[in-house]
Amino acid sequence: MTNLSMTKKAELDFSAWVLIKQARIEQMLEQALPAANLAPNTLHSAMRYSALGGGKRVRALLCYAAAEMCDTNITIADAAASAVELIHAYSLVHDDMPCMDDDDLRRGKPSCHKQYDDATALLVGDALQSLAFEALSQPMLCNNTGLQANQQISMLNILAKASGSTGMAGGQAIDLASVGKPLTQAELESMHHLKTGALIQAAVLLGAVRGSTTQMAAVRSYAANIGLAFQVVDDILDVEADTATLGKTAGKDANSNKPTYVTILGLDLAKQHAQQLYEDAITTLAPFGDSAQRLRELAGFIMQRSF
Ligand code: IPE
Ligand code: IPE
Ligand code: MG
Ligand code: MG
Ligand code: MG
Repeated sequence: MTNLSMTKKAELDFSAWVLIKQARIEQMLEQALPAANLAPNTLHSAMRYSALGGGKRVRALLCYAAAEMCDTNITIADAAASAVELIHAYSLVHDDMPCMDDDDLRRGKPSCHKQYDDATALLVGDALQSLAFEALSQPMLCNNTGLQANQQISMLNILAKASGSTGMAGGQAIDLASVGKPLTQAELESMHHLKTGALIQAAVLLGAVRGSTTQMAAVRSYAANIGLAFQVVDDILDVEADTATLGKTAGKDANSNKPTYVTILGLDLAKQHAQQLYEDAITTLAPFGDSAQRLRELAGFIMQRSF
């Protein structure tokens, strides 16, 4: 087999793995979300509208990949991946609201507040957040999965910290307070680490919950790099991609006067920075050989994505 065909085979295997895991998380979310005909019907249908049938599911994929590397039971990985995707979906619903980024399009459809109304979008975010913690706090997660009750509490703690005022919500607060301000690169980095990196890191750490101390340390560093790279690439795509491809409004950052990696470094340096973060992420996985292959491939996926 030539090098090229070996590469193609590996790519195909990864694509197939991604499709399987995307279908799996869709099914998990489908089961976790209340039925649309359960009262209050509008809230439940809006929750399903916002959480199902869209998104790359990168956070779930990272969680599953870390779980495979660390031999975490699939039932734990399902709950963790669902919880992280539910928090992420909530963050997008609120991010799009008129009081935040005021964006009409999300995942190729009208944003939740456009399809429904502001009050519903607010409540959808609240309820998706609670549902995330419901999914991760199920007592049955400790039944025959190797998970101890104290480890489950640690998982809840990781998700709470990543979502709250010293994680995603805090990063969003800094983002809104930074409109029109010339941030330093260090300030921008700190904002991006919080608003996007924290939840991505949580996805990996939750998947790796059964890992050794060495594995946990490595995936923590991998995730910090890849989490930041994710938002640097998001900033670049906002400038370079079109609305139809993105499924959200292109050029929104510049129109809203947001400081981004592109405004601070320029496109070329922003790309170089993302590449450096990717390489640093890959380096941290070196000791783990084939067991970390999915995490390596996902780092590439995050870099090469078109939306
Ligand atoms: C968009 O995240 C918001 C950011 C944190 C940059 P994704 O690009 O992962 O959005 P979906 O889930 O694929 O729609
Ligand atoms: C959003 O960042 C991050 C969160 C939702 C926490 P952006 O505002 O850049 O995300 P998009 O570009 O609207 O997806
Ligand atoms: Mg935003
Ligand atoms: Mg936004
Ligand atoms: Mg963006």
